[in-house]
Amino acid sequence: MRTPLVVANWKMNGTVAEARALAAGVRDGLRRPRGVEVVLCPPFTALGAVRELLAAGPIALGAQNSHWEAAGAFTGEISPPMLAELGCRYVLVGHSERRKEFGETDEQINRKVRAVLATGMAPILCVGETAEERAQGLTFTTVEGQLRAGLAGLAAAAIGFCVLAYEPVWAIGTGQHAAPAQAGEVHGYLRGLLSELATKEVAQRVRVLYGGSVKPDNAAALTAEPDIDGALVGGASLSPQGFVAIAKKVAHKGVTVLRGD
Ligand code: PGA
Repeated sequence: MRTPLVVANWKMNGTVAEARALAAGVRDGLRRPRGVEVVLCPPFTALGAVRELLAAGPIALGAQNSHWEAAGAFTGEISPPMLAELGCRYVLVGHSERRKEFGETDEQINRKVRAVLATGMAPILCVGETAEERAQGLTFTTVEGQLRAGLAGLAAAAIGFCVLAYEPVWAIGTGQHAAPAQAGEVHGYLRGLLSELATKEVAQRVRVLYGGSVKPDNAAALTAEPDIDGALVGGASLSPQGFVAIAKKVAHKGVTVLRGD
């Protein structure tokens, strides 16, 4: 029984005032979410303001990235303890934009996953193939390599605290989401790998989110797939109405799952 999770990735968008307005809109639209857990990942500069707005409510705070060291001479970086101090409970790790634009390697991503866990937060490890990899039939090979490297050296119990996000790179920000069955197949494959890397019980507990052009009109179909446990939402999370609508669609699955239907 996995409570579905919906995560907003605001990326590098918004002033602090805009972040406040957006977070307030989501908070007011989801006063008592049932059947879904909701996380907002604002830019670092807005974490403090968004934390205040969410206060003791049901919506959690997350960060979009983190360094792996706790402190030191790493100009411009932010560490896991700094994020925990600001109230973050989740951290996105290995987003494809970080892999591509900032050259993050699987080895660095693995260090980040471990550092985030060591600080008591949950990493949301992102994996996904490019259009070229898909065209070459390398989808499963690519996500398997990223998953194995990202979780390398972790005990089964630690894997149980992680969240995964399957985000096909060709679907991010393009308006072209994966077909639900196509994504569902990759999610099933990832869960099979989790059984191997941890245990079957742990694999059944870990939430595997889909990301890539999730919108209010495709969220229900995507999360109807048995192994898709929620969504990582970029563009559509910049509108409170859009994001709230997505969370409500996903909550529908959650209510059914939690009732045991
Ligand atoms: P998108 O982004 O929803 O705008 O496609 C998803 C993501 O990058 O996490």
